[in-house]
Amino acid sequence: MSDDNSLQTGMVTCTAPVNIAVIKYWGKRNEDLILPINSSLSVTLHQDQLKTTTTVAISRSFEEDRLWLNGNEEDISHPRLQSCLREIRRLARKRRNNVNPDFDAAALSHKVHICSINNFPTAAGLASSAAGYACLVYTLARVFGVEGELSAIARQGSGSACRSMYGGFVQWVLGEQDNGKDSLAQQVVPESHWPELRVLVLVVSADRKPIGSTSGMQTSVKTSLLLKHRAQTIVPKRMTEMIEAVHQKDFSHFAELTMKDSNQFHATCLDTYPPIFYLNSVSQQIVNVVHRYNSHYGETRAGYTFDAGPNAVIFMLEQHVPEFVQVVQHVFPSENNGGKFIKGLPVDDTFLSEELKQDIGLNPMPNRISYIISTKAGPGPCVVEDPSQHLLDFDGMPKKAC
Ligand code: DP6
Repeated sequence: MSDDNSLQTGMVTCTAPVNIAVIKYWGKRNEDLILPINSSLSVTLHQDQLKTTTTVAISRSFEEDRLWLNGNEEDISHPRLQSCLREIRRLARKRRNNVNPDFDAAALSHKVHICSINNFPTAAGLASSAAGYACLVYTLARVFGVEGELSAIARQGSGSACRSMYGGFVQWVLGEQDNGKDSLAQQVVPESHWPELRVLVLVVSADRKPIGSTSGMQTSVKTSLLLKHRAQTIVPKRMTEMIEAVHQKDFSHFAELTMKDSNQFHATCLDTYPPIFYLNSVSQQIVNVVHRYNSHYGETRAGYTFDAGPNAVIFMLEQHVPEFVQVVQHVFPSENNGGKFIKGLPVDDTFLSEELKQDIGLNPMPNRISYIISTKAGPGPCVVEDPSQHLLDFDGMPKKAC
């Protein structure tokens, strides 16, 4: 950075993806460092459909650190945000001493302005904190010239955010150390490994906001014996099997493990005292549709997973998407008020046989699915090179559209 510009602003914009766990993280052994009680594994979703974009500006003229999220200024004193800022500044200081003595030392004391937006509605109830913290940490690292392992910092923003630091199929290894240095995300295979795999996000119309994951998992750790058993006995074996299924591109095994793990996660929520309900009647009907569809064909062609809310994420191979979408539209007909029911990757029209309709055999539930996002696995965080895409203006204030 040069000294001659009065504002002396460094500005970087990056994007980061959403991820969906197929082996769920639920429960912490250390709340401050966000260390999990079990490993987990996720698929990074493509940023063409779901992404966070973040611009970070640094300037000696800024009086305080400030943050704008989806157009509103937010309180930057949140402890998890502060952990991420503190850790990046600490690494930058270390790096300046060891590797890059030319790095402008003064910049370490400069304040930052952060502006972040999602390309999907927050109201859709899709996990945005993972993409949000991954993007924040990735962008801050660029601004402060920090390189290398960053997932341990993203993890301190939100556990699941560490998995959004990589593309494709990603595991978060629980680690053994008390300081969390070995509780890291690692790419299992890149997104190019399994190009036929497709992901449908079924956005379910929800009437109330569910209990957040952070407090939900706290109560589960305190009260659920099933969660303890899951973390100690079930997940370690399931992780090995899942990694093998991904390597082999064994869809039916992958989908079955995914469904079983989602079901067990929701069973631990029910085993929590008082119990937590994330699935609603639409989610339950989606579970039935998937099982009836699979049994019609006598093979596992679709697999569902649900996080801490009623939305379903369905995995399938590309060739089966058009028919499955017809099945969904048959059971959940939508007027959708003129909006598009299927967003994202285009889905061909197809014919639904009477036999399949009969085997599905459920009474239609109109307007209970708002829309479907059709997507696939995608890459990890990226730098946006085009300066016109910055979300902050030359003064470091949010541009009008942000
Ligand atoms: C059900 O990562 O949101 O989506 O670490 O407290 O921020 P904190 O929780 P968070 O929990 C995600 C839970 C989940 C499962 C998963 O993504 O593995």
